[in-house]
Amino acid sequence: MSGCCARDYEKVFGRKTADRDARRFRRRGLRGSAKTLAELAGDVRGASVLEVGGGVGGIEIELLEAGAERATNVELAATYEQAATELLDERGLTERVERRIGDFVEQANAIPPHDVVVMHRVVCCYPDVDTLVGAGAKHARRRMVLTYPQERRLVRLALAAMNAVMRVGGSSFQVYVHPFDRIARAASGMELVERRRSGFVWESASFATSTR
Ligand SMILES: C[S@@+](CC[C@H](N)C(=O)[O-])C[C@H]1O[C@@H](n2cnc3c(N)ncnc32)[C@H](O)[C@@H]1O
Repeated sequence: MSGCCARDYEKVFGRKTADRDARRFRRRGLRGSAKTLAELAGDVRGASVLEVGGGVGGIEIELLEAGAERATNVELAATYEQAATELLDERGLTERVERRIGDFVEQANAIPPHDVVVMHRVVCCYPDVDTLVGAGAKHARRRMVLTYPQERRLVRLALAAMNAVMRVGGSSFQVYVHPFDRIARAASGMELVERRRSGFVWESASFATSTR
């Protein structure tokens, strides 16, 4: 992801979004699809967690508090860092989390496999779903959990309208409804365990490594 596009992500997911996400997490913990995704991660006691596009990091915080040993967060937008760092500090988790800035696809070779890979509402923000999900699957020793928009006509229409507004505003950022079959194909070498819907827009899926 070139510098110009990363800046577009930072405009969409700016400091205000980060502060709001952190405030909500402090007040109410995980809700909706984020809570579902944390549940689909299963028993994480002693596990290492890799969260891609984790924003302020609420899911990895919840998983660490559920017994995961350590976490890595790879996030394209640097705008989350201050709010994320404050949250980790408040909960005494700073030493157990590595936060990296950048495109996971570009950094993948430098990141070791983790037991659990998490992508909450990330595949819909990235054009190349095959490479992103494929890299996630390669990094998952046990499980990969993802949340993405449901393939509904109304959802597609709403996101198309959002994309039109972004284009008119001169942003290269776009949202995508990648078909589930394509996501599942890209999770190569992994088996689908469960799919769960959260409301009208989001669906989450859990994939497990078969023999690895
Ligand atoms: C809709 S936000 C979701 C943030 C957080 N997961 C949540 O649900 O609150 C999507 C996030 O994914 C990040 N992202 C998208 N593609 C990425 C990639 N290839 N590598 C790292 N981060 C990525 C974006 O920067 C953005 O912060």
